[in-house]
Amino acid sequence: MSSTADTIGSRGFSIKDFRKYKQEFTPISMITCYDYSFARILQMTDIDTVLVGDSLGNVIAGYSSTLPVTLDQMIYHTEIVRRGAPSKFLIADMPFMSYHVSIEDTLRNAGRIMKETGANAVKLEGGRDFRDTVGALVRASIPVMGHLGLTPQSVQKFGGYSVQGRDADSHRRILEDATILEEAGVCAMVLEKIPESLAREISESISVPTIGIGAGRGCDGQVLVLNDLLGMDESFNPKFVKRYANLSELCQRALQGFHREVRERAFPEERHAYS
Ligand code: KIV
Repeated sequence: MSSTADTIGSRGFSIKDFRKYKQEFTPISMITCYDYSFARILQMTDIDTVLVGDSLGNVIAGYSSTLPVTLDQMIYHTEIVRRGAPSKFLIADMPFMSYHVSIEDTLRNAGRIMKETGANAVKLEGGRDFRDTVGALVRASIPVMGHLGLTPQSVQKFGGYSVQGRDADSHRRILEDATILEEAGVCAMVLEKIPESLAREISESISVPTIGIGAGRGCDGQVLVLNDLLGMDESFNPKFVKRYANLSELCQRALQGFHREVRERAFPEERHAYS
């Protein structure tokens, strides 16, 4: 085990704070992160919780879905985020097919994440089908965050990334799944791309916090993908994303500046040179 993985983490926000914040009506902030440099920046902010999402398949690797992401990739990225953000409450996604085969396999995979990365919890997608899986992880003292609504690992089943829970049957199933996950012992759950009214109904009917992404204003917290929030891809403009910066433009300007100064022999200057 590396020294990073040996970090207990979460000297600020802790597992007990999920319910506490909900009871006190304090919205929980969560952001994704995948590397050491951004983790160091996050460490200097008041953001409550950090998720190493399997969205790294999209924003880091450039895949069109999260399906190709492996357990080893999740472990690699989570461990380096932990090194940059040693005291943040850190959650690692369990990638596609790492918790579907058997409970024994799931425990082994989640155990690797906990032992090798220093994460405080794992997250997995799905409702009633994973009731026993969540229960087994929680009994093994591995905190679990749930994820309902648009669960991107099910993109082939859904046939795309459309809003879930709009028709009466799927509305009822997601609502029931939230209670099932709560009873199975999740510490919180992500609600992704569902109608605001459904997210509010779920949030009011369970005691663990809901963390929304594209789920409107009634959730107990909010999560965004770091790269979306920072505006690193101007071609990605879903309704639910708010850009707090335009890093793509800023980076292009800086890189063009470097290129121009190299061409013009304006960089390096004397102060950048060694005698
Ligand atoms: O993988 C991810 O980044 C996520 C968030 C969008 C919640 O699951």
